[in-house]
Amino acid sequence: MQTKDLGIAVVGSGRIGSLRAKMAAQHPAVKFLAVSDINADAAGKLAKTTGADFFSADNEAVIAHPAVNAVIVSTSEHEHLKPVMRALELGKPVLVEKPIALTLADADKIIAKAESTGTPLRVGYAQRFKRRYLSAKDQILEGRIGDITALTGRACNTRAQGIEILKRSVDATPVVDVLTYWVDVAGWFLEGIRPREVTARGHGTVFRKAGFDVNDATFALITYENGAVVNLGVYFALPAHAPQLGMGVRLEVFGSEGALILNDDHTDELLITNKGIPHAYIPGLEFQTAFLSSSTPGNWHLGDYWGPVADESRVWLDHLSRGRPCPMATAREARQTLEITLAIEESARTGRPIRLAG
Ligand SMILES: NC(=O)c1ccc[n+]([C@@H]2O[C@H](COP(=O)([O-])OP(=O)(O)OC[C@H]3O[C@@H](n4cnc5c(N)ncnc54)[C@H](O)[C@@H]3O)[C@@H](O)[C@H]2O)c1
Repeated sequence: MQTKDLGIAVVGSGRIGSLRAKMAAQHPAVKFLAVSDINADAAGKLAKTTGADFFSADNEAVIAHPAVNAVIVSTSEHEHLKPVMRALELGKPVLVEKPIALTLADADKIIAKAESTGTPLRVGYAQRFKRRYLSAKDQILEGRIGDITALTGRACNTRAQGIEILKRSVDATPVVDVLTYWVDVAGWFLEGIRPREVTARGHGTVFRKAGFDVNDATFALITYENGAVVNLGVYFALPAHAPQLGMGVRLEVFGSEGALILNDDHTDELLITNKGIPHAYIPGLEFQTAFLSSSTPGNWHLGDYWGPVADESRVWLDHLSRGRPCPMATAREARQTLEITLAIEESARTGRPIRLAG
């Protein structure tokens, strides 16, 4: 099997960009690594910890670097568009974090550029790479569930994490930024069947008291063209010291031949200690009781990173370097997911059902 050498630029040296850069630095096909951030110190620090060859506070300098032939965009949600468009313009394959963009107009610009330049773009819906969802997809493909009639899912997380996300991007609401994972997973399980209509209701006081005009809870009903009904809900205002260090999820899929019941709440792994357990996402927040391995992107064990973002990064790099299969979300799948999440927000706001243009 032939291996293509990779030169990777990581744009955005924050929490997730740092993980992507560490995974790239370890990958055998990656011969050159460059990182950038508007915050030069963040880029410099990441370059030092990963042994990157080049760093800059100027995204153009890393994206257009002659040794770079693929680009990871891990900037804040409202800052995806510009670096993604530039990389596509130069014909360099892109991995952009979810959501692809915050408006359908921006998502359409990205798709048009990817298609006109023939440049592949994938979107980091890393929860697909958690073993239970990969194995569920496998069982669906094997036909053991039959035709999916209904899917129900609930994701919850703490208000501390919700506020951390909103501080970064005020439009990255719990629906657009987090329920999006489960809209993506539902769409992946129902691959090839189009969503038709969205109805949603939301309510909340916790985020409004904290100065953000978003609901604590939003629950949606999405109907698909074949009649399948999908009920997805998010609650993001658990107390800050709830023992989960990321999302807790319950997902159930019902079909003509079977069902999948996936308990992803992490309640089966409990650590209790007098010593503080740091929250991986929220600087300075410590716990005395925590669900192990409940951090959404993955977890550090024995000096290495394990979990969805690690596996997803490796799969993308293997795909580029060796042509291996890549079950990551495509730009068009990510656009459909964005259309649904924006419709959920609109329906919750107006009380009206929203027909999807598709
Ligand atoms: N897959 C996952 O598990 C997962 C988890 C969390 C976040 N995310 C996604 O990853 C992305 C980043 O989230 P994060 O948690 O790393 O946030 P973060 O705030 O830790 O990092 C974002 C970084 O981007 C930098 N930045 C902002 N605008 C920039 C610009 N124009 N150019 C260069 N750098 C810029 C910021 O300075 C910051 O260092 C978001 O899209 C988010 O939704 C994915």
